[in-house]
Amino acid sequence: MIFESHAHYDDEKFNEDRELLLASMKEKGVEYIINVGASLRSTKETIALTERYPFIYGAVGVHPSHTGELNEERFAWLEEQCRQPGIVAVGEIGLDYYWDEPEREIQKKWFRRQLLLAEKEKLPVIIHSRDAAQDTFHIMQDMKCENIGGVIHCFSYAKEMAEKFLDMGFYLGIGGVVTFQNAKTVKEVVNYAPLDRILLETDSPYLAPVPFRGKRNSSLNLPLIAEEIAKIKKTDYDKVIEETNKNARKLFHID
Ligand code: NI
Repeated sequence: MIFESHAHYDDEKFNEDRELLLASMKEKGVEYIINVGASLRSTKETIALTERYPFIYGAVGVHPSHTGELNEERFAWLEEQCRQPGIVAVGEIGLDYYWDEPEREIQKKWFRRQLLLAEKEKLPVIIHSRDAAQDTFHIMQDMKCENIGGVIHCFSYAKEMAEKFLDMGFYLGIGGVVTFQNAKTVKEVVNYAPLDRILLETDSPYLAPVPFRGKRNSSLNLPLIAEEIAKIKKTDYDKVIEETNKNARKLFHID
């Protein structure tokens, strides 16, 4: 069955039908979901989702674009949340230079702090990195991330960068972008990366695959992503589902 490694079901775009949608996951073949925190508020809502649904696990963390809200007191709260049952990762954390705010030094400071937190709590990390490949990699190298482990979510860099993150022991999160016709770089990366280092993800409600591009995304679209990966790697659809499930369980320590 399908393992969804990255979604945001706390998002207000799911307010109207969240219960109904999540209740349909099992029968549609989605076995587990990681709901990923991106701010203090969504971390709180992620924990509530893990308490309500036994098949939802959570990641707690603050996305680089929201690091402006962090201070020592709030960080101490975040640290406590790592010990909630059902929390399996720290994320999404990283660097996002597509946006000018918050300034880069603030993003870097809290990226490092959250990496340290993950190391201390013995949790893998979910990395968000946009237009910041070199800085992300250098900080991860400096922080010895090979001992922490994790996934580069929505991997969008070139093959050369993929090689470096794979060498560090990281997984690559592949989502709807791989189905876009002009996504040559991601298709190349999928062809290059071994299947035992790929995770399936949607980043719902964002990044819906073709033919739903621009619409609200959900984990029910994961078969479209798995089909594309199978096509690129010239392998079976079932094998992609099975292997990526195995990879995610291993990374997030879910039996
Ligand atoms: Ni995300």
